[in-house]
Order: sequence, then C-alpha cells, then structure tokens
Amino acid sequence: MSGKTPFLSGNVRLTQFAKHGGCAAKIGPDTLSRVLERLPKFSDPSLLVGFETSDDAAVYKVTDDIAVIQTLDFFTSVVDDPYTFGQVAAANALSDVYAMGGEPKIALNIVEFPGELDPDILGEILRGGADKVHEAGAVLVGGHSIQDDVPKYGLAVTGFVHPDKIYKNYGCREGDVLILTKQIGSGIVNMAVKAQMASEGAAREVIRVMTTLNRKAKETARKHSIHACTDVTGFGLLGHCSEMASASGAQIRINVEDVACMQGAKEYAQTGLVPGGAYRNRKHVAPLLDTGNLDINGPDEVWLDLLCDPQTSGGLLLAVPEAEADSILREFEQAEMETEVSVVGRVEKSGCEKGRICLTK
Ligand code: CO
Ligand code: CO
Repeated sequence: MSGKTPFLSGNVRLTQFAKHGGCAAKIGPDTLSRVLERLPKFSDPSLLVGFETSDDAAVYKVTDDIAVIQTLDFFTSVVDDPYTFGQVAAANALSDVYAMGGEPKIALNIVEFPGELDPDILGEILRGGADKVHEAGAVLVGGHSIQDDVPKYGLAVTGFVHPDKIYKNYGCREGDVLILTKQIGSGIVNMAVKAQMASEGAAREVIRVMTTLNRKAKETARKHSIHACTDVTGFGLLGHCSEMASASGAQIRINVEDVACMQGAKEYAQTGLVPGGAYRNRKHVAPLLDTGNLDINGPDEVWLDLLCDPQTSGGLLLAVPEAEADSILREFEQAEMETEVSVVGRVEKSGCEKGRICLTK
C-alpha cells in the first residue's frame, strides 16, 4: 500500500505542529508517578493487572479462560506523511496488548484534528491506522474525534489473553537473558530526519521499525517461558528496563555494544541530535544506574543518549530463561523478523530489595 499523498507535497508537514512527536510526547515518568499517587486505589478480585505496577495495559479476568486487556495510546506525529503517521500510532497502541502477551480484538480511534486542515489528511491518518488494525487481525469499530490545533491520533484497544499466560513487566529471575525485538534509536533518527540530516537509508529504516507490529515477536515468544515482558517506548530502553528491574527486585546488566541500533543513530546522537526526553529519562534512571566501565563524561556519553532515547512503537523486551534463549533466538531467525533482534543483557540477581541496572561495554 502506498503512503504517498500528493496533496501534501509542498505545504502541510505533520511534524510542524508539535514540539514533541510520538512517544517523546509522553509526560515524564517522575511527574506521572507523582500524579498517579493521588488517585484512589481500585481493587477488584478480577483485576489482574492495574496501574500500580506501571505495566503496559490493564488486565481483567472474565472467566477462567479469558481475561480482557485494555489500553489506550495516542500522540502527535513523528512523521510528515499522514498515512504513515496512522500506521505508526496504531502499531504503537496495539503493542501494549502484545506486551501483555495478548491478542488485539477490538480497536477504537481517538483523534484530534484542526478544523481548517484538509480533511483528506485525516482520512489518510485513519486509513493508515485501520490498515494496521486489519493486519493485527482485530476490528476497528468507531472512535471519537475533536477539533484541536495539533493533530493527534491513536487507538483504544481491547485484547484477550489467557489469565495464566499474562506477560507482566516484573518477575524476571537470575540468569534470564534479555532480548529486545526491535533496534533502538527512533527518537534520535526522527530528529535527524526533521533536521534534514538523516540519510535516505536511516529515514527508511526508522519508518519500517515504527510501523512493524509486535505481533510476530509475541507469537514467537509465546512458545517459550517468558518471565517478564514490556514494550520499549517513551522512557527509552533504560527507562523500561528500570521499571522491570524495580518491579522484579532485579539487578540487570546491559552490554551497551550488544544493543541493536538503527543506522546513523549513534552518529546523529554524537552531533547533538538527542531529544529532550532522553535527558529526562536519564535523570529518572540515575538512582538505579551503575555506569560501570563507561566514560559517561567523555566518549561513552553517546551510549546513554541511545539507551535513554524515547522510542516510538519500539520492540518487546523479553526476559527469557537461559536454557531457552538459544531456541527462541533461532525461532526469531526463522520467523524472518522485519526488525533486528538483539540480546541486550541479562538478569544478574533477583530477589533484591531494589532494582539496579549496570552497564558494561
Ligand atoms: Co507499553
Ligand atoms: Co502505552
């Protein structure tokens, strides 16, 4: 399907509307947890995953065989092309269902769009989203739209999962191998694209990565014991690792050179193309972070930029028991993934009082 929209050539660029695009537009983790603290506690014996553990979605048990996964994600555009924006936003919203180990079933659009803009642009955004929902095997059943100065788009998604097979963001154990199913760097590369400094190859790669569903990654993982899982989005790889580490009481070691990065990402970061969200994420993980043998006030600072870069529609981060690591990696290879799968580190200790992340190069 072509993402070309000739009526856009020239004037309207979707990224011009917002300061932050995609998951970089997320409210910071520190602010968010302070705000959420004010909310009353909800308890219901059927609520299997609520918001207390900062997981990707809520899960509610309906019968012994079915639990419902509920999630909502929307944001401003990271790309200029409306059809591509729709695809990215939908792939990102659907991802939280996959990150819980579930199957997306029903989706609703959520839209904000300026009244004075060509409605065909909105039509293209929605078509991009609908095509992704279709690809996911779910149904799109409606939604809600309001007028606003900044175009925003996303989905509320309902999915199903067996109550005993939910992937939580905690529960990783000593010895687990951490596998990431997409290369990182989307925040940085998108900035380079906006600054017209990205190579054609890098610009193509970031779009391919952001529009790829985490469906195949989840289906491949399904055949294995997964101790913990989350998707890597606005808080960056280290931010989401730190949530997993804290919630699991685990010490995680990341080998920075093993993390698959998009082409050009390191280079662009070195020239200073680093989204503001990366610094915010870095501050957030600082109390848990041991930078080991990295010279972070020197040449190795770029690793922190990459690992804290806010990802839009990033991959699944899976904690897999060591004994199954080789076979799952082989299956990822056989699955002919559209994205790069990498072993980013391992769980060194579990059952600790506090989470900890150690870096090595
Ligand atoms: Co998520
Ligand atoms: Co989300």
